[in-house]
Amino acid sequence: MPLSPFLTQLPLRRLTPRDLLACADLSENRGWPREEHKWGLLLTAGTGYGIDDPEGPGLAACSVVTSYGPELAAVGMVLVAQRYARQGLGRRLMRHLVEEAGDTPLTLYATAHGQPLYEQLGFVETGRAAMVRGRFAFTVPAPDVAVRPATADDLPAVLRLDHEIFGLDRIHMITRLPSFADHIRVAEEDGTITGFAAVWPNMDTHVIGPLIAQNPRTAQALIASLAAATDRPLRTDIDLRHSSLLNWVKENGINTIATTSVMVRSLPDLPGDWRRRFAPLTVAAG
Ligand SMILES: CC(C)(COP(=O)(O)OP(=O)(O)OC[C@H]1O[C@@H](n2cnc3c(N)ncnc32)[C@H](O)[C@@H]1OP(=O)(O)O)[C@@H](O)C(=O)NCCC(=O)NCCS
Repeated sequence: MPLSPFLTQLPLRRLTPRDLLACADLSENRGWPREEHKWGLLLTAGTGYGIDDPEGPGLAACSVVTSYGPELAAVGMVLVAQRYARQGLGRRLMRHLVEEAGDTPLTLYATAHGQPLYEQLGFVETGRAAMVRGRFAFTVPAPDVAVRPATADDLPAVLRLDHEIFGLDRIHMITRLPSFADHIRVAEEDGTITGFAAVWPNMDTHVIGPLIAQNPRTAQALIASLAAATDRPLRTDIDLRHSSLLNWVKENGINTIATTSVMVRSLPDLPGDWRRRFAPLTVAAG
């Protein structure tokens, strides 16, 4: 469909936490869950962009960018209201984000809906992730790795480990975890923190992320410990290269419900060590 000159000239503005309900309304409008808790994090830790609905109130389009400094920013929650679909707003918004990013590489998790648009704007697939969901069944026990609730004293070691494995400073996200997540666990071997993971509430589920661990055994122990702390179904997003972990969660009742494409722009691959990075904090923030 040709671009509507009227729609593509609408002003684009920065969003603030006061736009949270309008963002959640837009999610709902596209059949996504409202995810107000997640929107709250993204609109405070990241930068939201939106186009007001010309027939107001509310938003016609929105997205959020989480910055990790000059080396990377993550794009998430790209949404265009159903009534304005396929009229150029998604492209307009994404072009703006790409221009604003300048030389900073971008990453995002793409659904099949968004992928063609991102490819047109220079994003390429660097991997795939499984979106998994289910009630953890404790059928196949986790290996015997010591896991305990995190304390404030663990923060320096957690930040060091996260920086090493994520590959960039995420202090502005990790320090928000104690207020955002319901539970945070650390794995400890011989007095050294070898992994950590959080679980945060999202609608009727608990989402595991981030999940950082020195090996799949430690990742399993962290997942099992978090699963024991909740009665809700679990959700997380696991890199498809972690096939042993994916098999183990499946044996425990957590099944793949969709796969997403991990895309990058102006970057050959994501920084850090994918072998020890098992799940993002949220796919919306990389
Ligand atoms: C994906 C989305 C943001 C696209 O926004 P949009 O304003 O409808 O897209 P545009 O009109 O700017 O189209 C840009 C290009 O995307 C592709 N595209 C958009 N909608 C599409 C559809 N339904 N089927 C196939 N391709 C589509 C096309 O390549 C299109 O270019 P073209 O119209 O010149 O062929 C919008 O459909 C949406 O909000 N979907 C639901 C949420 C979602 O999946 N977000 C992406 C998360 S990664």
